[in-house]
Amino acid sequence: MIGCGYVGLVTGACLAEAGHEVVCTDIDRERIAKLNAGGVPIYEHHLEGILTSARKAGRISYTADTAEAIRAGDAIFICVGTPPKENGEADLSAIDHVARQIAEAARSPKLVIEKSTVPARTGIQLGRALAAYSRETNVRFRVASNPEFLREGTAVEDFFHPDRIVVGVEDESSAAELREIYRPILERSFHCPVHNGACPAGHKAEFLVTTINSAELIKHASNSFLALKISYANVIADLCERIGADVEEVTHAMGLDPRIGGQFLRAGLGFGGFCFPKDVQAFIHLAGAVGVDFDILKAADRVNKQCIDRFFEKVRKALWVLKGKQVAVLGLAFKANTDDIRFAPALEVVKRLLEEGAHVHASDPEAISRTKALYPQAAYHRDAYEALRSADAALVCTEWDVFRNLDWERAGKLMARRLVIDGRNLYSPQRMRELGFEYYSFGRE
Ligand code: UDX
Repeated sequence: MIGCGYVGLVTGACLAEAGHEVVCTDIDRERIAKLNAGGVPIYEHHLEGILTSARKAGRISYTADTAEAIRAGDAIFICVGTPPKENGEADLSAIDHVARQIAEAARSPKLVIEKSTVPARTGIQLGRALAAYSRETNVRFRVASNPEFLREGTAVEDFFHPDRIVVGVEDESSAAELREIYRPILERSFHCPVHNGACPAGHKAEFLVTTINSAELIKHASNSFLALKISYANVIADLCERIGADVEEVTHAMGLDPRIGGQFLRAGLGFGGFCFPKDVQAFIHLAGAVGVDFDILKAADRVNKQCIDRFFEKVRKALWVLKGKQVAVLGLAFKANTDDIRFAPALEVVKRLLEEGAHVHASDPEAISRTKALYPQAAYHRDAYEALRSADAALVCTEWDVFRNLDWERAGKLMARRLVIDGRNLYSPQRMRELGFEYYSFGRE
């Protein structure tokens, strides 16, 4: 496993839990030292437990010596970052760097699997790079694409219970090797740490063998479609506000049609995280590069950016001047059950509030320390009620259960003014009004 970021660690931990022997490496020596000391650099439900048990069983190890890790494996998963460049295009320099490392260190044939999200045709380039960089050693490499669909917050569960496992390959032997790697998951013969062995009966994962280009496209096409769905719901919410309808009623009814499906129709502050925003950009860029104008996706991206503007219109309308106001921000992570703040809508909210001179008191169960490093000017409280004390307004930015279940009667007594602007539609407008709150959300009256 090359790259111990989100996908690398979850993949490594889960494959080790499923019985494989996994060696992990990363360019970040501190990260490797932390992992070797038993630490877990990211917060993800179940991850710490399975890393500990895999380590005790001797099935997972970490080394900063990349060459050692490369020589140890027959199959090498590349899980390095592919961040966006200024123009939205994916920066593939880490993949190129890893290709050189693999080619130079390998002494026996390897199956090199890209798990990082990459634009279509990267696998072909990777194959060429491996061949070019290994001219001296003459080692043979096969390349495969195995996109990862896991969601942060439920990553371990998603890995063990996938809807589909997609492998893009050039030959039958690569497909067979990958099928063997995933056999415990396909046959459900592992001990599931999420359900403690008693997994609910569900449909079995499909193992799909495609070309490398198709596999790469499947990942971008899936993420972009989901992003499109969210933006669609956000436009419907806007319409609902203007017409006087309720977006929850509308999207609920829409979602009952199995052709549409109920997921990813939640209106609010829009999508964030390290996948959707960058994947949408990269997909638009890729389409443009081959002469396809992906207008529909550009619009989805624009709608998403406008969600924050619409949120601030509501904030300004309710609070009028922001300067000098005390504002509680509930939620910093880009979604619930993660400490990830990358491209989190909440960060943009905090930034704008601070720029306008508001006093920000923020709360989040997991993402405080990361946000504090970026915005030390704000005050942070683990306890949401402390963030709400003396606040002129509460802005809800992440759908954590602790916020969903807040006792607003208690909170109302602590706040200077009973005003809630809800960017995630967590509460019933009627109930909030009964409690004496001015309450604003998305697409509801
Ligand atoms: C996503 C994909 O779901 C996953 O398959 C892929 O492997 C990686 O990218 P993730 O980034 O973990 O996963 O988050 P996801 O749960 O998809 O949510 C993305 C963003 O959309 C969050 O900011 C979330 O709050 C927002 N969202 C989601 C909405 O605004 N409305 C919705 O209805 C659903």
